[in-house]
Amino acid sequence: MKKAFLLLGVVCMALFAGQAQNSLVLHPDNAGTKINKEIYGHFAEHLGRCIYGGIYVGDTSGIPNINGYRMDVVDALKDMQIPVLRWPGGCFADTYHWKDGIGPKEDRPSIVNVFWGGVTEDNSFGTHEFLNLCELLGTEPYISLNVGSGTVQEAAEWVEYVTSDNISPMTDLRKKNGRDKPWHVKYWGIGNESWGCGGDMRPEYYADLFRRYASYSKGAPFKIACGANSFDYNWTETVMERTRNKQNLMQGISLHYYTLPYNWRHKGSATDFNEKEWFTTLNKTLKMQELIDKHGAIMDKYDPRGRVGLMVDEWGSWYDVEPGTNPGFLYQQNTLRDALIAGINLNIFNNNAQRVKMANIAQVVNVLQAVILTQGDEMVLTPTYYVFKMYKVHQDAMLIPTDLTCENYELEGESMPAVNSSASVKDGVMSITLCNLNPNKEEPIELNLGTEEYKKVSAQIVTGKKMAAYNDFGKAEEVTLTEWDIKKPKNGKMNVTLPSKSVVLIQLSK
Ligand code: AHR
Repeated sequence: MKKAFLLLGVVCMALFAGQAQNSLVLHPDNAGTKINKEIYGHFAEHLGRCIYGGIYVGDTSGIPNINGYRMDVVDALKDMQIPVLRWPGGCFADTYHWKDGIGPKEDRPSIVNVFWGGVTEDNSFGTHEFLNLCELLGTEPYISLNVGSGTVQEAAEWVEYVTSDNISPMTDLRKKNGRDKPWHVKYWGIGNESWGCGGDMRPEYYADLFRRYASYSKGAPFKIACGANSFDYNWTETVMERTRNKQNLMQGISLHYYTLPYNWRHKGSATDFNEKEWFTTLNKTLKMQELIDKHGAIMDKYDPRGRVGLMVDEWGSWYDVEPGTNPGFLYQQNTLRDALIAGINLNIFNNNAQRVKMANIAQVVNVLQAVILTQGDEMVLTPTYYVFKMYKVHQDAMLIPTDLTCENYELEGESMPAVNSSASVKDGVMSITLCNLNPNKEEPIELNLGTEEYKKVSAQIVTGKKMAAYNDFGKAEEVTLTEWDIKKPKNGKMNVTLPSKSVVLIQLSK
């Protein structure tokens, strides 16, 4: 109810276009919901150069690596504080037979990646390699089980192989493969996009399959049902209805929503776009709030106590692939527009932390809205990376409720709120993140901080000269994270001017 009121506040106030009275009123005394660190999650699929080449190069590679993992990528992900990593897919997950990826590498069979480019892969990156990577990164693993083309037994044995401390054929096999103790894997997905690439199922059929797979996935502490594609509310309704009161079986349900400037046939270029495409892409990004509201309302009906988490385990921009690259590899550049897409989505997830318990941007390296791009031994940190690095202060912080009043950003008769924000508090430090969606105009905003006096203030900014500014191999960075100079608050208020097309962080403490 409170959430709906806040949203209404933003929408109504934005209607009064022309009144340049931007303000954000913070209610730190009402901070009562934790922003799960998993909202800052990522996704690594066997797709294009995400795993092979992007994360894993093998221990005989000339690229500096630790046990085959690229050191530059590992260091960058640690620095960004990656909290959870979803694997092995995506569509790939429902073709993946995990036993192909364990044991001596020379004995592992090759497979054809039928969804992504039809390439042959040697299975040198499997369960041990993924889970050891997570340990190296200090990140929670999230494994998607194969429901589409696998069996219940195969899924149950994978959970047992990974998590069990018992004496059993699967734990013997794990020990034979060099791992004595089980790994700690909390999150398990029961299929991926079962309405599409994961088996083209109807929700009624999937709901029953979910119950069956979840029943036998003993040892999986947090089971995530395949949720809806974007605006498919019937999927959520049916799956929630048919799993109601199955508290031991379902702890989360997913939602996938990608932002495309146009449509699936013609998505638009990642770097060559005009203001209209900028506007449309950001406007579509804002739809995430509507999706959470509407899927959340259905969940409230069947789960009034809010026990089941909404896991937005695929989100981000999806453009045409870079010219000359394999269309099946989904490789795209990443500009300042993507930094705004990330900033807006993360603010929305924060503001809905009561229901949204995890979110995973697609994908971590070299695929779609990646935080990292690689080319041979070179690595580029994208504008999206810098937003994640900036926003890490919200991980496991307490959400501060806010009321945002802002003017509209208008283009060709359409309009949307020009400012987007969220705020949290952790260890006595208040963190406010703000996006200015307008690429042409700075936005002055008054921050009303409440009754506390804050003596220390610091700020950071991600912006660039052009909407399509991006970081490229062998060139100086066009978009990065820099310190931003702002004045201290006075009498519980501070005024800042958000530069056009920017994402900023303001931190305050006593
Ligand atoms: O992230 C790329 C693909 O998008 C995933 O494999 C699939 O789940 C979704 O359709």
